Amino acid sequence: MNEHSKAMEVQQILHMNGGTGETSYAKNSASQSRIISMAKPIIEKAILDLYFTTFPEAIRVADLGCSSGPNTLLVVSEIMNIIEEICHQLGRTPPEFHVFLNDLPGNDFNTVFRSLTAFHEKRRKDKGDKYRPCFIAGVPGSFYGRLFPSRSLHFVHSSSSLHWLSQVPPGLNETVNKGKIYISNTSPAAVQEAYLAQFQRDFSLFLKSRSEELVPTGRIVFTVLGRTAADPSSEESCILWELLAQSLRDLVSEGLVEEQKLNSFNAPYYAPSSEEIVSEILKDGCFSLDCLEVIALDWSGGISNGDYYCNKPLSTSHFHMAKAIRAVAESMLQNHFGQQVMDPLFQRFGELLGSTSRSVQHISFVVSLIKK
Ligand SMILES: C[S@@+](CC[C@H](N)C(=O)[O-])C[C@H]1O[C@@H](n2cnc3c(N)ncnc32)[C@H](O)[C@@H]1O
Repeated sequence: MNEHSKAMEVQQILHMNGGTGETSYAKNSASQSRIISMAKPIIEKAILDLYFTTFPEAIRVADLGCSSGPNTLLVVSEIMNIIEEICHQLGRTPPEFHVFLNDLPGNDFNTVFRSLTAFHEKRRKDKGDKYRPCFIAGVPGSFYGRLFPSRSLHFVHSSSSLHWLSQVPPGLNETVNKGKIYISNTSPAAVQEAYLAQFQRDFSLFLKSRSEELVPTGRIVFTVLGRTAADPSSEESCILWELLAQSLRDLVSEGLVEEQKLNSFNAPYYAPSSEEIVSEILKDGCFSLDCLEVIALDWSGGISNGDYYCNKPLSTSHFHMAKAIRAVAESMLQNHFGQQVMDPLFQRFGELLGSTSRSVQHISFVVSLIKK
């Protein structure tokens, strides 16, 4: 398969679990919601800076990797609230909002679109006399490339999405990363190098595309899973993939998965360090870095227990954590290993999570950029 087909393959396959059922992303995205709330002060500062720099009559906002569920409209509605509130305080007419929700074509846009009537109605009720309509559109496509016309956007937001690569790094054949599905401490150096090079290609393309789409002084705020350790094979960024690989090896021993299938799977994912992120921003040169902060969630932090956020110890939350990972990774795994092994795989994964004594923090970065 050539490089173009590999990227096309990820674009076609990757999606969070749709709908609103037990294993949906909508029901299992509490930790990502927590990351959004921890990034809120930085989003607030960026949107207010933008507004006070240009006082635009219309603000065009894009949320990249919006998925479907309670987080999809969370940030854009916060952004509108912040601006509408400040305009109210200043006695100014608020700008119009044009909102673009982007994700890959396999995203459950139907569920998103179906939720819009209730979203608009709630805004109308909450705002009363001050209600102003906002205009929301879906934009399917990869954010590793152009999605919008030149100089058309004011604000780009993306949360918990940029750690997904456009493709599995080239060169990872069946012998190179045997029995593993991501970088591990037994992977040869070539595996780390291939992952880093893919991240650099993807993230630089993301920055280049956004720099063409944003107006001067336009803003980007994004969160991304990452690592504080210099070593990309540190437990901090690899432990969940390690335990998932171990679960797959167990299924190989039980004859449920072929060994060759395991050896030929690698995740299109990379957890960068802050240095790796900043280095690409500097190389690109089109943005100044307003701030970069670390968000650290406890191992069990933000795990959804049904519909509410809880901070229970791992022993009681490991199956919830397994469900949260399933909601995110199932489309990829199912495409390669088959639907029939998903239940035993995530059952085993939950058990391993429950029995491990290892505990690390989940690291994300929140990064705020200004278009020069
Ligand atoms: C974990 S979800 C995050 C959803 C939401 N932003 C949140 O914070 O809860 C990551 C989303 O990024 C999307 N995604 C991954 N790669 C993408 C790409 N190249 N272009 C657009 N969306 C992408 C996935 O389909 C998924 O919906």
